[in-house]
Amino acid sequence: MLDIACLPAGKPAYRTRWTCPSNIAIVKYWGKREGQLPANPSVSLTLEACRTDTTLEVSPRGGEEKDRPYRIEVHLDGQPAPGFIPKIEQFFDRIAPYAPYLRDYAFVLHTSNSFPHSSGIASSASGLGALAACLVDFENACSAPLTQDNFLRRVSFYARLGSGSASRSIYPGIVLWGECSSVPASSDLYAVPLPEADIHPVFRDLRDTVLLIEHGAKSVSSTAGHALMKGHPYAPARFAQAREHVERLREILRRGDIEAFGALAEREALTLHAMMMTADPCYILFKPATIAVLEAVWQYRKETLVPLYFTLDAGANVHLLYPASAEVPVREFIATALSPLCQGRMIHDRVGTQGVRKAAL
Ligand code: PMV
Repeated sequence: MLDIACLPAGKPAYRTRWTCPSNIAIVKYWGKREGQLPANPSVSLTLEACRTDTTLEVSPRGGEEKDRPYRIEVHLDGQPAPGFIPKIEQFFDRIAPYAPYLRDYAFVLHTSNSFPHSSGIASSASGLGALAACLVDFENACSAPLTQDNFLRRVSFYARLGSGSASRSIYPGIVLWGECSSVPASSDLYAVPLPEADIHPVFRDLRDTVLLIEHGAKSVSSTAGHALMKGHPYAPARFAQAREHVERLREILRRGDIEAFGALAEREALTLHAMMMTADPCYILFKPATIAVLEAVWQYRKETLVPLYFTLDAGANVHLLYPASAEVPVREFIATALSPLCQGRMIHDRVGTQGVRKAAL
């Protein structure tokens, strides 16, 4: 419980600013159990350039307006953005059992993303990660501060309750969320970073160029997609496969086997979309340009043997994965052959060295 008296007088009572990166999964989380628990473990690359920057102002809530359970105000890029409030209310509902003070305060969020708005890049992982960090920081200011490890674990725990993939964005590098027999520290409740010693240098600065093929909201949300894994005829086999893929990926990461990494990433990406295409009702998030990119990547790899691979999230955009050593030829190929397929809209990113980070106000 918070000691309310510790808040300084005057408004805003507490102000904090955190940034959080986005991430892209290699082994995908698709399907969940009650309580935002994953049906299978997942592993992702935390990105460097794609980040959300959030400032949170917290002040004691006046007794007058109790029409809504929470008092939340959101600004995106300096403009009021009330459209985000229902998602944040849902997040607050889920963390309220651990943060009972939420109803007693007014929260004002000022948020912005480093990547273009409506680019199709999911901002929920970075956005909920940044908000979770602001809240835990507020708690820390009002009670005995947590150790750094426990702070990050609590942030990841909260972030997971907002959006499963957000739990992984808290840590830099390559991150695991979900119980996995070979990693004793792993948990369904929060993510853990894979130890650097277990990751070959080739993966530590892996490049990810995101081709922005679709802009705006997806036709089927991730929430609806997860729900369609309930009763999906292939779900049990898929969950078992993902568990096996996590173990295989850990071995690949240790060995530095970029070819095996690419093969696994591509198979995971197409399996994710196969689950959508075979759900009831079935749906497709690919666009013709998505398939054109995948075919061009395969053709390029066959002709040049340059290690260029892809993965996809739950949308039409393509993440191109390649080692730093292949940057020159891959960038040239992207500029000449792939750029026309996404009207030149792309973000050059890489595996990040920073997770959530406190920023100066
Ligand atoms: O975190 P959610 O509920 O938006 O689900 C994310 C699902 C995928 O991005 C498709 C896969 C993943 O593991 O990030």
